[in-house]
Amino acid sequence: MSDILTHIDAGVMTITFNRLDKKNSITSSMYAAMADAVAQAGADPSVRVVVFQGHESIFSAGNDIGDFLNQPPTTQESPVFRFLRGIATFEKPMLAAVAGPAVGIGTTMLFHCDLVYAGDNAAFSMPFVNLGLCPEAASSLLAPRMFGYHRAAEALLMGEPFFAEAAQEVGLVNRVVPPTEVNGYAQAQARKLAAKPLTSLIATKRLMKGDTQAVLRKMDEEGQDFGRMLREPAAKEAFGAFMEKRKPDFSKV
Ligand code: COA
Repeated sequence: MSDILTHIDAGVMTITFNRLDKKNSITSSMYAAMADAVAQAGADPSVRVVVFQGHESIFSAGNDIGDFLNQPPTTQESPVFRFLRGIATFEKPMLAAVAGPAVGIGTTMLFHCDLVYAGDNAAFSMPFVNLGLCPEAASSLLAPRMFGYHRAAEALLMGEPFFAEAAQEVGLVNRVVPPTEVNGYAQAQARKLAAKPLTSLIATKRLMKGDTQAVLRKMDEEGQDFGRMLREPAAKEAFGAFMEKRKPDFSKV
């Protein structure tokens, strides 16, 4: 069974995180599979809407930490960057159904979705600072734009989780439903969209989003810092601590 499942039905491509034993953390091969699926969804006229979903207990624990240490993204063609560029420039509607934790990229990818539905157990976090890293996925641009600077600063500097209701308040989430209903609710919304004229959906999204160059430039800028910081002592300490199941000690970094 693959760690990423893709399924097309009634004009909706559903991309499912399917690595529950590792809390749907995302490896490089999973990014590659998702980047390919998103590219296919863009090119295939029978796909009108994309939905990302996880399990009712967890959306995603973010980057697979071991995989990140073993094969850090080095070039713009690395699967994670291909995936991020793919979702940032995707023309058709993109939805997400989030239940349980959505850590790191599990949260930042949502800035690129048009509609986000959350289970009332959803917990969003962007703990990059706590990992000795910096934001990715253009979240350093899009979080302040969406939340306002101070709320974004709290989320990105403190790196603590915020929950479904707060996420709805800051505009990250459209609607909160019971966790067992979130995937079904997102599917129903996606099917409604899939029945609408695709040309109008694409034009409306493009007009609302405006120029995506600033987003792509910010991703690039973040990617350079992120790549460098991955090799520095703070990240090494944070990742080592995670693997050894202990608290990190940043007193010397
Ligand atoms: N990378 C690699 N493995 C991960 C992982 C990650 N990001 N998140 C969880 N796992 C693994 C754990 O190592 C554990 O593996 P094991 O059973 O072989 O020991 C398994 O998934 C279960 O995780 P656990 O922490 O016991 O689950 P939990 O329900 O107590 O907590 C989370 C869930 C998501 C809150 C917690 O796993 C977590 O904080 N993960 C790290 C998130 C993170 O920092 N991501 C990086 C963002 S850049």
